[in-house]
Amino acid sequence: MAEKRYAINVSIILGIGVVLMLFIFVLVAHHHNTPDRIRQDRGALLGTGSSVAERIKPVGQVDVASVDTQREPVKTAVVASPPGRDGQQVYQATCVVCHDAGIAGAPKLGDKGQWAKRIAKGLDTLYTSAVNGVQGSAGAMPAKGGNPALSNAEVKAAVDYIVARSK
Ligand code: HEC
Repeated sequence: MAEKRYAINVSIILGIGVVLMLFIFVLVAHHHNTPDRIRQDRGALLGTGSSVAERIKPVGQVDVASVDTQREPVKTAVVASPPGRDGQQVYQATCVVCHDAGIAGAPKLGDKGQWAKRIAKGLDTLYTSAVNGVQGSAGAMPAKGGNPALSNAEVKAAVDYIVARSK
């Protein structure tokens, strides 16, 4: 009796062992080449025609290259704009501080008496004084009116404007 039970127990355990081994075998066979299959599946999903790639693509893309090329014209536009400022604009932006009220000994805009003797020196002299600055008896005229961002042409245009209004 005991022997029979022993035999039954052994066969049950063996059976469980076989089932387990079968299970493990199937499991291993199933997962054996998973990476390959995932790659294939992905390829099929993302491949042309499925439109999955289209639908899961990022919402926005930062295109650094085109941002740069778009910015370039803006830069040149900024650089190019100052020559467009005429003498009056330059005067109002920079020279007006001293030359409107005659601050610090500056000859006043429109004061013919003050400007006559300066205009008599010739435009080129006035240009040079305005661009490089001049220390006179009345006071100091800073180079470019203290605004080094101005181009020589802009300073000259402002001189033209002052002279035209003061003779
Ligand atoms: C900080 C005050 C100040 C500012 C700003 C200023 N000037 Fe003057 N400027 C003077 C003074 C002071 C004199 C007189 C110098 C002297 O005694 O000869 C003068 C003189 C001049 C003269 C006559 C120079 C000469 O040789 O007789 C010109 C031209 C002139 N300025 C143009 C300009 C222009 C153009 C600007 C703007 C871009 C400008 N100034 C901005 C103070 C200023």
